[in-house]
Amino acid sequence: MNVKIALAGKGGTGKTTIGSLIIRSLIEGKKGSILALDADPNSNLNEFLGVNVSNTIGMIREDFKKNAPRLTGGIYKDQLVEMNVHQTLVEGKGFDLLVMGRGEGPGCYCYANNLFKKYIDILQDNYDYIVMDNEAGMEHLSRKTTSNVNYLLIISDPSPKGILTASRIKDLSDEININVDKIFIIVNRVNGKLDDRLKKYIEEKKLDLLGIINMDDDIYEVDISGKTIFDIPEDSLALKQVKKLIEKLKL
Ligand SMILES: Nc1ncnc2c1ncn2[C@@H]1O[C@H](COP(=O)(O)OP(=O)(O)OP(=O)(O)O)[C@@H](O)[C@H]1O
Ligand SMILES: [Mg+2]
Repeated sequence: MNVKIALAGKGGTGKTTIGSLIIRSLIEGKKGSILALDADPNSNLNEFLGVNVSNTIGMIREDFKKNAPRLTGGIYKDQLVEMNVHQTLVEGKGFDLLVMGRGEGPGCYCYANNLFKKYIDILQDNYDYIVMDNEAGMEHLSRKTTSNVNYLLIISDPSPKGILTASRIKDLSDEININVDKIFIIVNRVNGKLDDRLKKYIEEKKLDLLGIINMDDDIYEVDISGKTIFDIPEDSLALKQVKKLIEKLKL
């Protein structure tokens, strides 16, 4: 059995940052094989991880939809989709990356969509860990792309509004039954300690706090200077904190 971790939260709270810190922590902890799954249509996980992406699932699915009517043979189509999914996979140092890209265009060619879903699911079975980055907000929950997840980590900034959004995401996940084992909140970009009033608010909202991550200049540098998550020093506070969170989850 593998472990699937998905990130959710409001825009700009640090989903991609924390997702890539988790990936680095898993690699350095020699935990097993890792699939990084970028499900944000504005994909940028590859930049944090320092790999180039030329194809996305969205792109090859559209090609397939255009050409599929001219192809004959169900088995051939199956094999073609399987091959296409594998070709979309990018190999990094210690992880593979699959970028979903843009969602399905208008008109459901359900046969193709189902085939792609089938082979993406099969692909995930090959890995010990799947770390899934998502777009901001709740759309991905209602589209059920974030289903069958062991840990849904909702990232929030240290503000009441952030916590409120996190609790809405949790409520919606519970409501629509997307098959998540455990939901946690992580408060990111905290200055010093977490304010007691925020802690209380988190409890009131019945959110499980996995931990906090402090404001860290090393992390800020990654985005602003085009560095990658592997360039930040080993003793960077945020990296150490993420490693602790991973221990807490017993990953
Ligand atoms: N702990 C931190 N300390 C300092 N800067 C941080 C921290 N966490 C995130 N950042 C910075 O905040 C910005 C937003 O982070 P990130 O892109 O990870 O957010 P996101 O939730 O994935 O955003 P989006 O909703 O657009 O996908 C980035 O510039 C990132 O470097
Ligand atoms: Mg992001």
